[in-house]
Amino acid sequence: SKTTGGTVGRRDGGSTSMRTRESLSRAKLSGSNGGRTVGGSEGRDLWRGWRLIPQTSNDSRSARTGYSPARMPERAPTLQLAAMASLLSWYHRVARDLPWRRTRDPYAIWVSETMLQQTRVDTVTPYYERFLRELPTLQSLAEAPEERVLGLWSGLGYYRRARMLHAAARRVVREHGGRLPEEAQQLRGLEGVGAYTAGAVSSIAFGRREALVDGNVVRVLARLFALDDEVESSAGNARVWRLAERLMKHAPGEPGDWNQALMELGATVCTPRDPRCAGCPVSAACLARARGI
Ligand code: ADE
Repeated sequence: SKTTGGTVGRRDGGSTSMRTRESLSRAKLSGSNGGRTVGGSEGRDLWRGWRLIPQTSNDSRSARTGYSPARMPERAPTLQLAAMASLLSWYHRVARDLPWRRTRDPYAIWVSETMLQQTRVDTVTPYYERFLRELPTLQSLAEAPEERVLGLWSGLGYYRRARMLHAAARRVVREHGGRLPEEAQQLRGLEGVGAYTAGAVSSIAFGRREALVDGNVVRVLARLFALDDEVESSAGNARVWRLAERLMKHAPGEPGDWNQALMELGATVCTPRDPRCAGCPVSAACLARARGI
């Protein structure tokens, strides 16, 4: 299932008060037909009238436009193009200079994303650099004895990740001619590669239009769209994945940049406690903010 590698984060670090839960469950996304068209028929279908606005109390907007969430429950909410462009350009301006962002080497990106699954950026950085220095290629990892791989991982914890990475590298040599597969679906056939890691490697290293969801992305999307599900439930998680996939379909720029922009926003601005909304590039589109949640 998709939850295997995608860490399901807590929605907002425990600050979900009763009031918040009630507001979230009352929250509805309403549509209005602005008559705008974007791109081909699919774009038109997606964008027609969907705005991120709180539903008015007497539902006059729906009455006026003939659109109502009740009639179009699966017409998933999405971000306006302008908000998406704003997030991406913010990312290009402020993205942290992390060592794995300086490479397009799929092996290096895979190693970094595996380390980052359960470990913070600050902790990972020196381990990542040493690992890549000692085992600079997928082939070298496949050939290394397990003790050496575990030695390089020593201190990072969750050693199963290292064993899986090692086994997967050997499989890639055996079954894929030493080259990592590009498609998320194929990547998921490798040891230790869940939905999150597959989406990360496929989009960041290979530029494939694959979504990803990690704890940061769950929180960012739950707030942006005021999701009233329990996002940590499996149904809620599936909903967040569908939303991330839908956004990815229409995301501007490089798919890997889009995914990293969502994660970066969660890591540096839309934090669990005290989100820095004043510095947020998509605050104008944020439903949680509009509702004072
Ligand atoms: N967390 C895990 N991988 C990440 C990445 N590539 N960018 C930002 N945050 C991350």
